[in-house]
Amino acid sequence: MSITFAILGTGRIADQQLAPAISMARSADLWSVLSRSKSRAQEFVDKHGAEAPQAAYDSYEELLDDPALDAVLIATPDGLHFEQALAALKARKHVLLEKPMVCDVKQAQTLVDTAADAGLRLGVAYHLRFHRGHQILAEKIANKEFGKLRHMRAQWTWHAPDDQNWRAKDEVGSWWGLAGVGTHCLDLIRWYMVPDCGEIVAADSTITKNVWEGPHDETAMVQLIFESGATAEFCSSVLFESPSRVELYGTESWAVCDNTLGSSGGGSIQTKKGPLDFDAHNPYVGEVEDFARAILDKRSPAVTGEEGLRNIETLLKIA
Ligand SMILES: NC(=O)c1ccc[n+]([C@@H]2O[C@H](COP(=O)([O-])OP(=O)(O)OC[C@H]3O[C@@H](n4cnc5c(N)ncnc54)[C@H](OP(=O)(O)O)[C@@H]3O)[C@@H](O)[C@H]2O)c1
Repeated sequence: MSITFAILGTGRIADQQLAPAISMARSADLWSVLSRSKSRAQEFVDKHGAEAPQAAYDSYEELLDDPALDAVLIATPDGLHFEQALAALKARKHVLLEKPMVCDVKQAQTLVDTAADAGLRLGVAYHLRFHRGHQILAEKIANKEFGKLRHMRAQWTWHAPDDQNWRAKDEVGSWWGLAGVGTHCLDLIRWYMVPDCGEIVAADSTITKNVWEGPHDETAMVQLIFESGATAEFCSSVLFESPSRVELYGTESWAVCDNTLGSSGGGSIQTKKGPLDFDAHNPYVGEVEDFARAILDKRSPAVTGEEGLRNIETLLKIA
């Protein structure tokens, strides 16, 4: 049995990663597509092969009115996520939200409560949790191979050509580099550190906005303290390209991940005990499969709405 998905938005991530991932996932089918333009929706349907008899929509109400649709995958700008997710939950559709889930904690809580009350799944698309090397590290952390975790560091940046992206503006965005890549660094840090070190109890940051002088972060340097006293830091930026890096330090071992942050599922991981072998699977396929299985098996998805809420709670504190 498969779960039918509608994709909202026909932009970069929907086209390059999410629609192909739905097609590849065993328990998911691409059913319909929403765009502001019917012809763009139709082009997307033709390219990716959505299966509903009428699959291309420019009316969200009509898309949601389809009893054969099980779930929506929301891949529109961050500032549109809340209204779109709430409407889907009210129409009794499960919701997988691109990150960051919304731009406001109250909105996030409303979605979490609405989904729980309706018995629907609400998940957040942090695809790096489905990177095979990252998953092996998570297993080693849980097995205490790193001992007590003491510190973690992550850096992920890109070089934006200009400030014309919606993330740089206020209309439908709330953060720039932090929403593009910083929220992923924070998610990895939370995934690895919180089970061992407790919740984040203090967060501080240095944010710059002086190149384009817009409302949102260009470079963000973030420092975190956990209940155990362990620390973490991450850097996100839209001002320069750099190889991505994740470093993890415990009392018994350390790990350094080079270029594992991205879409390929590749890169390399070294630990104190030697290189870590893993196969480069497409992490987006794992993400979609997990969410579809969560619906079918009536369990929580790997990244819940509550976890998405904790992530934006920190983003809102620091920027
Ligand atoms: N997990 C990841 O790896 C990853 C990577 C990139 C992005 N994302 C997330 O996915 C979401 C979409 O990001 P993206 O990079 O794909 O953005 P994008 O390329 O700009 O695409 C967003 C799409 O949303 C639709 N849209 C509806 N209202 C819009 C508006 N007012 N302004 C702009 N677009 C609007 C557009 O499709 P129509 O023109 O067809 O309506 C547009 O193509 C964001 O939440 C982002 O953080 C996740």
